[in-house]
Amino acid sequence: MAKLVPVDPFDLIIFGGGGDLALRKLLPALLHRHCDDQVSADSRIIAVGRTPTTREEYLAAARESVEVGLKGDSLDLTSWASFAEKVHYVELDVTEPASWSRLNELLAGNEKKVRAAYLATSPSLFGSIAAGLRDNQLITEAMRIVLEKPIGSDLASAKAINTAVGECFVESQIFRIDHYLGKETVQNLLALRFGNSLFEPLWSRQVIDHVQITVAEELGVGNRIDFYEETGALRDMVQNHLMQLLCLVAMEAPSSLDGDAVRDEKLKVLRALKKLDTADVKTNTVRAQYRAGAINGKTVQGYEQELGAASRTETYVAIKAEINNWRWSGVPFYLRTGKRLAAKHSEILIQFRAVPHVIFDDVKFGIKPNTLSIQLQPNEGVKLSIMSKEPGPGPFDLRPVALDLSFEEAFGIGYRDSYERLLMEVIRGNQALFMRRDEVEMAWRWSESILAGWGDSNQKMDSYVAGSSGPATAEQLIGRDGRVWGGDE
Ligand code: BG6
Repeated sequence: MAKLVPVDPFDLIIFGGGGDLALRKLLPALLHRHCDDQVSADSRIIAVGRTPTTREEYLAAARESVEVGLKGDSLDLTSWASFAEKVHYVELDVTEPASWSRLNELLAGNEKKVRAAYLATSPSLFGSIAAGLRDNQLITEAMRIVLEKPIGSDLASAKAINTAVGECFVESQIFRIDHYLGKETVQNLLALRFGNSLFEPLWSRQVIDHVQITVAEELGVGNRIDFYEETGALRDMVQNHLMQLLCLVAMEAPSSLDGDAVRDEKLKVLRALKKLDTADVKTNTVRAQYRAGAINGKTVQGYEQELGAASRTETYVAIKAEINNWRWSGVPFYLRTGKRLAAKHSEILIQFRAVPHVIFDDVKFGIKPNTLSIQLQPNEGVKLSIMSKEPGPGPFDLRPVALDLSFEEAFGIGYRDSYERLLMEVIRGNQALFMRRDEVEMAWRWSESILAGWGDSNQKMDSYVAGSSGPATAEQLIGRDGRVWGGDE
């Protein structure tokens, strides 16, 4: 395990402290950091919520969901007790000026500590919370503000949020979270590309045939259906997670790991993404919704049944994206993501070009192109598939074999949740793994071209059976180009 670098003492104020994200993700992440001695004795976690609750009641509820969040990881009671001492609860209605006084009291005299406000609330409150922090003189020099996605629901609303927060904080204080950037394998993509000289000369249209980015989920929309109905897969997953992954695969080497150096390169990729007009949207995108089906032998309802109404919201998207620059011209990036698919499975697959000429006359199954698969979930690792000779005295018989690196086997540890890394980066003030305003807005610009195309062409909504691998039209999208999802193995 990498050595742990201590972080400075901090006050982390979580707005939406009683919400799902805080209880299910942030508190378990902070407990782990506490167990690893990264949360100093004088650090505090101040959960802010509208519900009138005592600290004891909050801690009891928090402990219950932390236990669930830890998914069977033993919850060390001694650690919980010392962790709970650092957790406070403040009842606050952010739109009510008088109700800020308790938070003001708690923070008074702690101006020198790193202070971070984590906005785990609806984005419609981001502006008022930022203004409340400013009006109550709570913004210190070492303060950061963390914005949870979604940053808006389109370009205009994203701009409005960014402007409202930007009136109170400077960009170097604003940390826009995309939790995919905290995933170990995503960071390993940077290590793979820029910590090895092997891959970089291969990383272009001369050698790469195409790239696939898949984020498949087994879960449905659960208790978030109202949010989801307004959002859909393109806004929920593509605009942020998949586009961030695309940027990390496609970007040029940054000159350092400095926040702006990395983000400048990602922005150039977003700028070079070919906009899709209505005709492109028709041929190069698929949107679909799940019907009733079965997952792991269990019957599950279709999306409309769960919602109890007819719906035009997509739970699956596939897109053929193109990057207009010298490195990637002519190399399609196929993206797909969906809910209620056969299994949770996320990977980036780089398929290299086929050999230009086959010299093995006796090869039965043909020579398959090499693939490099960067697996994000469920097992994190990297797999390079190469053609190899079957052992034996007979003629040449080749088949693909994998050089397979499982991170868990190689490093002997399972990985922590991405929020652990990202929260510590917030306290350190390192923005490399967070999105800058221009990036978010550029990603919206591209996503909006797809949303507009769907609207203009009244594109039909395909469907797929829950528990399947997705709609047939997604197979056709890539099949038309003579390619298959999962690579030509
Ligand atoms: C969130 C989306 O950002 O990412 C969810 O809002 C989705 O709909 C989740 O389920 C997926 O994250 P992970 O880390 O489980 O792949």
